[in-house]
Amino acid sequence: MADIYRESPLKSIGWEDFVGLPLEEKGRYFLRDGRPYHVLIAQQFERPTLERLCETATRTRRIAKTRGGIRFLQDLLFDKRAMLYFAQPSTRTFLSFYSACQIIGIKPAEVRDASTSSEVKGESPEDTVRTFSSYFDMIIMRHPVGGFAERIAWLLSNTERPVPVINAGSGRDQHPTQALLDIYTLLRSFEDKGGMEGKKIAFVGDLARGRTVRSLAYLVALYPGVKQYFVAPEPLQIRGDILQMLDKRGVAYELTRDFERIIPEVDAIYMTRIQDEWDTADESRSIDTTPFHLRVEHLRKLKPTAIIMHPLPRRKEIAPEIDSDPRAMYWRQVRNGMWIRVALILYIFARESEIDRYYEDLIS
Ligand code: NCD
Repeated sequence: MADIYRESPLKSIGWEDFVGLPLEEKGRYFLRDGRPYHVLIAQQFERPTLERLCETATRTRRIAKTRGGIRFLQDLLFDKRAMLYFAQPSTRTFLSFYSACQIIGIKPAEVRDASTSSEVKGESPEDTVRTFSSYFDMIIMRHPVGGFAERIAWLLSNTERPVPVINAGSGRDQHPTQALLDIYTLLRSFEDKGGMEGKKIAFVGDLARGRTVRSLAYLVALYPGVKQYFVAPEPLQIRGDILQMLDKRGVAYELTRDFERIIPEVDAIYMTRIQDEWDTADESRSIDTTPFHLRVEHLRKLKPTAIIMHPLPRRKEIAPEIDSDPRAMYWRQVRNGMWIRVALILYIFARESEIDRYYEDLIS
């Protein structure tokens, strides 16, 4: 097993120099031995790693179908402990990581409310997280401050006890593991429909402040020939940095308010809720978002092969009656999330080849 505590490239760069780097250049600082060590931004992933993670996730869930397989998985990382530090509300992502840890034998612990930690005694969040690294082998964190997980990863990499940091949602900027489960869902859904090539994907809702779309737009851009549609009211439209990234990569895209028009055209609709927790003066309330809701009558117009996605939680943007339509993928996304996180953690700890060995015995 590779030594997880070997030096991270983040040790070789000062914070000021690192933080100023373009996202696509930051990625290599999160690697160790060519594999993800810290998982902080979508831009650190390339297609071979994505596809390897998806394959590991699919093999692992096959293995978990037997009691013997479950026992084998339990043993893989039984010597590890993980801290789940969630300083922002979460149901799915928290439980997804918690369950993922349990499946492969990692013992999870949690701090979900900063008011119960020494931060109330005036301790800096940096010191709080550094304390975690004394007890745990991995930190999985969600934080309202964009870039905070990167800061922690840099800081820990420059201590005697670096541990991997996984970003489980940071501010309004990134949610890389949601993007992994979303791309896993897309790849699985299009597996027998000609793959990703030439597909049309619409992102709908609060694209200005939704971090899931910001991360996913990048991963989708790694697949040539995919057109991205950004469907939102003007004030909630996708930000320029994402469009610049798409321009740089030569990706086709369209910005529109006309949800009705694009429904029959697309192969995937990725719905999102209004992120009004970021409002400063209740400004979302004055925006009419009802034209950006997916309603039952839309289903007739949608291609029979198209899929409907949502990172959840939802509000009114998808009518609950749509849940039973075979094209609705959002509950499947939740399940895919747990397995892709299992795969990711195994990959970080360099144990994924053991999945291959067990799987090959299983199918032979
Ligand atoms: C998302 C998030 O927290 O960014 N939820 C999730 O992780 N599944 C989306 C949201 O809160 O709207």
